[in-house]
Amino acid sequence: MGHNPTALEASNPIDIYRSHISELLAPITGKSAKDIYERLSWTQTFDKGDLGLAVPSLRVPPKEASAKASEWSQNFPDSDLVEKPVVAGTFLQFFFKPHPLSKLIVPSILQKKTLYGTNPKLGLRDEADPTKGKKRMVIDFSSPNIAKPFHAGHLRSTIIGGFLANLYEAAGWDVVRLNYLGDWGRQFGLLANAFQMLGSEEKLEKDPIGHLYDIYVEINRISKPEEDEIKEKKDALTQASANGKDTTELEKEIQALESKSVNEKARQYFKRMEEGDEAALATWRRFRDLSIQRYKKTYSRLNIHYDVYGGESTVELERMDRAVKQLEESGLSEESQGAIIVDLTKNPKTKKLGKALVRKRDGSSLYLTRDIGEAYKRVEVYQPDKLVYVVASQQELHLAQLFKILELMGHSDIAEKCQHISFGMVQGMSTRKGTVKFLDDILRDVGEKMHEVMQTNKTKYEQVENPEQTADTLGITAVMVQDMSGKRINGYEFSLDRMTSFEGDTGPYLQYAHARLCSITRKAGLSAEDLESADLSLLSESHAINLVRALSSWPDVVQNTLKTQEPVTVLSYLFKMTHMLSSSYEVLQVVGSEPEIKKARMALYKAARQVLNNGMKLLGLNPVERM
Ligand code: ARG
Repeated sequence: MGHNPTALEASNPIDIYRSHISELLAPITGKSAKDIYERLSWTQTFDKGDLGLAVPSLRVPPKEASAKASEWSQNFPDSDLVEKPVVAGTFLQFFFKPHPLSKLIVPSILQKKTLYGTNPKLGLRDEADPTKGKKRMVIDFSSPNIAKPFHAGHLRSTIIGGFLANLYEAAGWDVVRLNYLGDWGRQFGLLANAFQMLGSEEKLEKDPIGHLYDIYVEINRISKPEEDEIKEKKDALTQASANGKDTTELEKEIQALESKSVNEKARQYFKRMEEGDEAALATWRRFRDLSIQRYKKTYSRLNIHYDVYGGESTVELERMDRAVKQLEESGLSEESQGAIIVDLTKNPKTKKLGKALVRKRDGSSLYLTRDIGEAYKRVEVYQPDKLVYVVASQQELHLAQLFKILELMGHSDIAEKCQHISFGMVQGMSTRKGTVKFLDDILRDVGEKMHEVMQTNKTKYEQVENPEQTADTLGITAVMVQDMSGKRINGYEFSLDRMTSFEGDTGPYLQYAHARLCSITRKAGLSAEDLESADLSLLSESHAINLVRALSSWPDVVQNTLKTQEPVTVLSYLFKMTHMLSSSYEVLQVVGSEPEIKKARMALYKAARQVLNNGMKLLGLNPVERM
């Protein structure tokens, strides 16, 4: 790109500047424009410029670096876009010229609207040849277990996974959102029987997730004394045989207890399911379908939809058999007490991955085996370039074993595409009424709290059209922003008071910033044509200039987030930008200003609202217009 950049075509305006600066520097420095381009870096704060260049990073000996910096700055030619670089030791600081920047950025944002920040080229398999198609990512996230609580780990996976899916889509990837439900295993035999004994059709229809959980808890309560008794007898049996006593009586007793136990019935039921018995499967399928219906409602409150509801049940036996066989044939697995394991401790390089169980003694499959089969399946069905697993750090070992086993089996092509997106724990997630079981409970609770907070300002409250719904949205924002406020790997303490506060970097603060911009827009009452004709060179105050600089970097922030894969990269940017906004309002008034100045400032605020809106949507938030 040369001297005449067209911002409307470029996805990332900062790239225009990078190209421009590198082209000007190349002849002066004798370095290649490409090398320079890659080394132009972000600055921490705007007083250090918009882009920086560490001279030693271009293989200039440290001793000569500061002399070179001065020399290059002196020789830097006049440019329409950037000032002569400022020398700071061995650093060059590049400042964008304010007026060309405003003229480039503000109209570009107003024209691109929701597309500002997206960059469809990044996701192309081959940038030079779009006919080769987009890169594809399969992302497994949320993935709760039916009939068990939706815990904080699932909440984080939902939030982070939803965000990453949006992010890759904004970068032009083809994203397959997949919910890999925990929907298979002996507990479904238990549950089906329990439903016959204790279930209610009515309750199941009304609240499937809650009802299934309740009967699951209840049946476990019934089963507990049975299992305790069996264990007691078994201990007695071990004792007796050690003492050389006759054990026939005890053995009979144990058998009798076991055969009529809830657990044994569950095992038998699940066996029928695994054998494909339609009657047995019908009940299970109902549980699954009703649960999915319910999940869908909750996910839509979080702006999340799935392309596929898969799950452990959907991994074909045949695929798993094939995997286990392949493991045996390649000599990777071995028998151990009737079960089949992969002993990763034999090789010093994989020692810490331990021994992985792939088939139980009774021949039944396991979580890990299903994941191996499922990985094959994802590759066959979707031919992805990337397979992402958004799962809590507690399952680090499981996923490391999975990826390693795939690799050892000769599927390093698959293993290379796999990535575990890990995250830390949430402490103390509970509602005000007690410990939490389901996502809906938390969202309701936080929404109610936000409703209370909103009511403390009567005048504003009365102007909100649908206060309950707004409170609900604010509550969800509060939960999500709290979750995304740190690096993924750090856990945090779930705090209702902190997250619902308007002070500090919280969800409600972000929503407030958005609503305020909407309010300014309403009050200004300018048309789109008014804003198009605005003379942007009137944006001369440092507050306005800095705001434009911040807005210009949004697409670059998105691009950088693809590297960090951290929601906090986006969130920090949005907070930085909204802080700049709130300190601007005093200085850059719209209502009451001269007509031309009013237009220019309104164009700037409208662009800021667009960027804030785009950023919030990328995070999965629903920006509100009034609150
Ligand atoms: N259902 C699992 C759990 O709740 C998470 C599944 C994660 N995905 C996977 N492919 N293993 O622990």
